[in-house]
Amino acid sequence: MIFLNYRIVEQKIKGIITKNKSTTILQDVIDVLYESFEKYSWVGMYLVEGNVLILGPWKGKQATQHIKIRIGKGVCGSAAQSGKTEVVNEVSKDSRYLSCFLSTRSEIVVPIKKMNVVVGEIDIDSDKLTAFNKSDIIFLEKVADMLSQHI
Ligand code: SME
Repeated sequence: MIFLNYRIVEQKIKGIITKNKSTTILQDVIDVLYESFEKYSWVGMYLVEGNVLILGPWKGKQATQHIKIRIGKGVCGSAAQSGKTEVVNEVSKDSRYLSCFLSTRSEIVVPIKKMNVVVGEIDIDSDKLTAFNKSDIIFLEKVADMLSQHI
């Protein structure tokens, strides 16, 4: 596992997005996020289709059973509904939380918007409690902005 700081990873992602003309952009960005931060235990993307979120590319040790989530349901559905980033410091204390992996302790969900409309989101689970800080929020919101033109 390689450790890189937010700025270096941001440049790396910018490179993937601007140079890569293939259809693997979304998966490539997910892979870089997963490989760059040890605390990102599972990284995935959900895409909005009507009133549901459909699981897109992801990377982690296990697959999730939540491949389809209704908008408004769970932490993912809440972020899609409000258009605002959700940070859950301790998933066991959030009644909205839909459990995927027994090891998950905290979660961040960052909406991807096009003209202010939510078209998808980045969902990251961590095995650490309170894993996501202000730097993660700023960084992942930038990544979401970069991705929006590719959805
Ligand atoms: N925990 C999410 C569901 C998706 S899994 O984390 C991959 C939620 O509460 O919406």
